[in-house]
Amino acid sequence: MSDKEGFRSNPDGLQGRTTRYDTKKAVQTVWDGCRIRLKVTLVREDGADTLSFFVSELQGGYRKEMNNSVIVSLRDIVVEFDGQRILDGLNLDIHDKEFVTLLGSSGCGKTTTLRLIAGFLEPTSGKVLLKGEDITGVPPYKRPVNTVFQKYALFPHLNVFENVAFGLRLKKMDEETIRRKVRDMLEVVGLKGFERRSIGQMSGGQQQRVAIARSLVNEPEILLLDEPLGALDLKLRKEMQLELKRLQREMNITFIYVTHDQEEALTMSDTVVVMNGGKVQQIGTPEDIYNEPKNAFVADFIGDSNIVDGVMHRDFLVSFSGVEFPCVDRGFAREESVQVVVRPEDIEVVSPVEGQLVGVVNDVIFKGVHFEMHVECEGREWLIHSTRACTPGETIGMRIGPNEIHIMSRSEG
Ligand SMILES: Nc1ncnc2c1ncn2[C@@H]1O[C@H](COP(=O)(O)OP(=O)(O)OP(=O)(O)O)[C@@H](O)[C@H]1O
Ligand SMILES: [Mg+2]
Repeated sequence: MSDKEGFRSNPDGLQGRTTRYDTKKAVQTVWDGCRIRLKVTLVREDGADTLSFFVSELQGGYRKEMNNSVIVSLRDIVVEFDGQRILDGLNLDIHDKEFVTLLGSSGCGKTTTLRLIAGFLEPTSGKVLLKGEDITGVPPYKRPVNTVFQKYALFPHLNVFENVAFGLRLKKMDEETIRRKVRDMLEVVGLKGFERRSIGQMSGGQQQRVAIARSLVNEPEILLLDEPLGALDLKLRKEMQLELKRLQREMNITFIYVTHDQEEALTMSDTVVVMNGGKVQQIGTPEDIYNEPKNAFVADFIGDSNIVDGVMHRDFLVSFSGVEFPCVDRGFAREESVQVVVRPEDIEVVSPVEGQLVGVVNDVIFKGVHFEMHVECEGREWLIHSTRACTPGETIGMRIGPNEIHIMSRSEG
């Protein structure tokens, strides 16, 4: 579990001696830009020594059980506007009670995909299925789906209570039921006591909660959220990310979330769908997408990475930068040209004689948790994140373990 950086199980170097550490407040979570790490700091009871290490692999045990039943399927969806293909043969299954995120850069077709599911748009060809039934042509109000838009689209002339009650009034529910449901929902989103406030007197984050309450009060089976946190500052955004995750778990419904922020997608989702140019590039858990990117686009889009050309000599042996490396990949043709992805935090900095590769440090930046370094080696620059500080101009060795090497077929690029 613990990663290689600075973990010393016996910092005194004395065999057989037990060192006692104060474990109070020892664990701190750290977001290093690409994954959550637990930073564990142990202070010796006599204060003489401090031991810090990171635990960065959180796979397993953490994830909730995934429901296997598919609630929404998009089948061979093509959408064209003015003869231009916006969605190009999109296939996607979304599981019941899943938090799934559509992730991609501006214009890749995320909002268009949500509009298809909500029923605001019909595909040029292909089918939208809800629990296996074709709902192409079913109008939005007959779908068990609600949408939270980026610009919350609240009614400025109605107070908080009436904004949330709006959908229930349309359904002509009795006053007492409306009161109960709205009160309950405002409590869930942490806005109890704000019922009579006008929308103009609410902060951005509070307005966002009203918009979410207004959608959830209709008890949709699926909630679509189109970049709902885009207008919030970073701190509030982080708070609302956790809030939304909690809400999804409590309400136990399917969330389909759209963002172009990879960190947000990796933090919140059960499943991430990476899109580019109207096509799905990869579907997987955040760990899959991060650790096993299927092509160079995904590798590049999700966090920093080193992508180099290589040759797969045979199963479990690849070469790049003029050196052969054992790896865990197989099934490629002999001597197939491939692309190799190595994450910056997966390169171990060692002395030049120990290194599989040897390079010269160009620059070093302290990033709080680690040092970010650019290292010149065999005519290319490598990005390295390490807790070991080097100095510009220093010659270092680099080691890359078999598990840290990810091979991608060139045809998938
Ligand atoms: N009604 C429309 N008529 C013509 N073109 C459209 C229409 N709606 C969307 N498009 C085009 O389709 C493409 C995809 O748009 P979409 O809104 O789905 O992107 P997006 O991934 O949500 O982007 P963003 O992150 O900027 O919101 C864009 O090039 C957009 O200009
Ligand atoms: Mg959009």
